[in-house]
Amino acid sequence: MTATADKPAAEVVDTVSLTIDGTEVSVPKGTLIIRAAEQVGIEIPRFCDHPALKPAGACRQCLVDVASPGPDGNLRAFPKPQASCTMTVTEGMVVNTQHTSEEADRAQKGVMELLLINHPLDCPVCDKGGECPLQNQAMSHGRPESRFVDVKRVFEKPLALSSEILLDRERCVLCQRCTRFSKEIAGDAFIDLQNRGAQQQIGTFDEDVLDFDGYRPVGAATVDEAGKAFSSYYSGNTVQICPVGALTSAAYRFRSRPFDLVSSPSISEHDSSGSAIRIDHRRGKILRRLAENDPVVNEDWISDKDRFAFAWQNLSDRLTRPLVRKDGELVETSWPEALAAAAAGIKAATAADDEGAARGAAVLTGGRVTLEDAYAYQKLARVVLGTNDVDSRARVASDEEQAFLGTQVAGTGLGVTFGELEKAPAVLLVGFEPEDEGGVVFLRLRKSLGRQQVLTVAPYLTRGAEKLGATLVPAVPGREAAALAELPADASEALSQPGAVIVLGERAAEAPGAFVAAQELASSTGARLAWIPRRAGERGAVEAGALPGLLPGGRTAALKGPRDVVAKAWGVDALPSAKGRDTAGIIAAAAEGAIGALVIGGVSASDLTGDVAAALEATGFVVSLEVRRSEIAESADVVLPVAPPSEKPGTFVNWEGRLRGFATAIQTDAMSDHRVLDLLAREWGVELGTGTVEAVNAELAALGAAEAAHRPAAPKAKAARNPRAKKGTAVLATWHQLVDEGALQDGEPYLAGTGRVAVARMSAATAASLGDAVSVEVSTEVGAVELPLVVTEGMVDGVVWVPVKSPGSWVARDLRAAAGAVVSVKGAA
Ligand code: SF4
Ligand code: FES
Repeated sequence: MTATADKPAAEVVDTVSLTIDGTEVSVPKGTLIIRAAEQVGIEIPRFCDHPALKPAGACRQCLVDVASPGPDGNLRAFPKPQASCTMTVTEGMVVNTQHTSEEADRAQKGVMELLLINHPLDCPVCDKGGECPLQNQAMSHGRPESRFVDVKRVFEKPLALSSEILLDRERCVLCQRCTRFSKEIAGDAFIDLQNRGAQQQIGTFDEDVLDFDGYRPVGAATVDEAGKAFSSYYSGNTVQICPVGALTSAAYRFRSRPFDLVSSPSISEHDSSGSAIRIDHRRGKILRRLAENDPVVNEDWISDKDRFAFAWQNLSDRLTRPLVRKDGELVETSWPEALAAAAAGIKAATAADDEGAARGAAVLTGGRVTLEDAYAYQKLARVVLGTNDVDSRARVASDEEQAFLGTQVAGTGLGVTFGELEKAPAVLLVGFEPEDEGGVVFLRLRKSLGRQQVLTVAPYLTRGAEKLGATLVPAVPGREAAALAELPADASEALSQPGAVIVLGERAAEAPGAFVAAQELASSTGARLAWIPRRAGERGAVEAGALPGLLPGGRTAALKGPRDVVAKAWGVDALPSAKGRDTAGIIAAAAEGAIGALVIGGVSASDLTGDVAAALEATGFVVSLEVRRSEIAESADVVLPVAPPSEKPGTFVNWEGRLRGFATAIQTDAMSDHRVLDLLAREWGVELGTGTVEAVNAELAALGAAEAAHRPAAPKAKAARNPRAKKGTAVLATWHQLVDEGALQDGEPYLAGTGRVAVARMSAATAASLGDAVSVEVSTEVGAVELPLVVTEGMVDGVVWVPVKSPGSWVARDLRAAAGAVVSVKGAA
């Protein structure tokens, strides 16, 4: 095909014409026969074929008759039926499927008969029964009667590939979808085909081949057992794509039949990717979650956290009725009484004393809330409570980050996309570990392995980074800005290629000067900037203005102009002008007794490095909005129950800036945070206008994005910290592992069992300074954690890495320290 006047050359695709079952079809050159058939509505049975995996031709179920024109132009038939999932189309090809070729039909029936010889036909007790390609295709393309009278092959079952993934080997049809996914997509070659002939089976990979120190699953006896289990953050995808019931999940096994389930599309609440999921539920209880295909976001995949971490919302500590503290105890009450008590308590705690002095109120929210919820929290703070003391960053935050978010992120719409990240010739990661903190972002980057140069500014090269083929730009935590400023020439050159991207994670806020340095690097190289926070609600909260210095749409709260625009839209005279405090500032002020009332929703106390207990104790009145009882709820004066994402509609804004709206999956009486806050505001006689998702979105749309003059000033670099370790100390490096002890993973022991064991990492030289230690005690004046020591090759000296919130390592709670802090280290034999 040639370019025509109305079609730009870039869109021109070479096509090939062929005939399938008598129907002519033109498809792009290189198309597989099985895909060309799909385009004309012809279904060829298949097991190993999967559009996201490389062709394997493993199961032979898709055999068709093929004839192609020879050099003389005459059609020549292939002597035997061919696998349509591995053969690409050629011009003039004639394909006859099972519908028009007796030979193809016979071949397919023969393959089906062979597969069923060893298959147990235990459909009535198999989880896949009712949604099984083998069952369906045996019905549509198999023989009505079995001719097999011999004894079937049996295996011990199920084989636990991990605590979550179970294998019933006799059901396996050796399609290798699971092994191909693990190698090609996730890069986790923990399972593979073993043995030959009739005994050929999938199994855990020989551990001798693997040597991933410190990556043993929790529960393995020693670090030396690394690699024995199917230790992958993406293992659940193999269960979904297994075309039979050979792979099942411990969480769902024998729990339900597919035809008993109601399926609702939704968006995962676990990270900022906004992955499309399907929630399968029965009688109001979620039984499983699956990946939905979304070609522009998560394609066909989700992380195990997205898939398996949903039990948290139905645990026995779920809040269903409002609670009010009476005589020191939290007692259930009605909504009207609870709302009245909350408002009265806040009013009293923030009222002026006899000398006219008053303590203000503050609002804290976290990354689990939706765009609409975050909007309601900040509007309540500014309109009802008259304060800019509101923050959604339940983590380390900085003014530099806030200015970056206000100038580069809020109200900028769709920025760098998943597709652009995948195609970028070079990607620089700053304060961001994609496998631990990005969910499917990791899979998109891995898709470009070999085509993309990945550079990571970090204290060591993680296994996840190795799987991306990344190059380490070594940096002591807190000194990332210097590392960016001193980037090697070849790295800067790589970032100068068109389409290159600099990714800043939420941990960039822990590195003074990192945002400014990244912006300067972007200016000098032309690379684009992307901010990929860890939690699902972070980007939405930025858009909603749930930060102390940001109003909705990226407007700065420091200037009268943007405040007036928002005040007018909200129908109020003025917005508070005093500079607001961030999360750490609010906690510190509260601990000093300077905050009269706190409204807190969606925050885990153990995520904060401040003295939360002291803050709650010293605050006059605390209102907690929570799904479940929590440390904060237990200390609150009024607790207002709110709905988890599956029980409400809402919107997560993913890191790209894409709106990921979702509807209610399970109908309950639980209300969204924004609805509860709307009711609470009425106690002041204020119509907050946040009663529904539609109302909030209408307000956000009317406000739109800030004009340039209404945005905050460009971020300024604070003097970079230069943490240095002296003898007996080290600089702390820390981040969350994907599967850890986060509150949204509670109640899922099988998933928890696949988490990576907590270890302390040090370079060989740093470890040697501790003598013959096998474990390390990391301590501050607040507390200590002790973990097995893993000497890590190539790690920067003078640094100790521990996970933020894994078993035995709760850094914020136990050390009250963040990355960049100088901590004491002591070896133990
Ligand atoms: Fe295929 Fe399932 Fe067997 Fe893996 S376990 S090879 S996905 S049938
Ligand atoms: Fe073609 Fe398996 S689908 S060989």
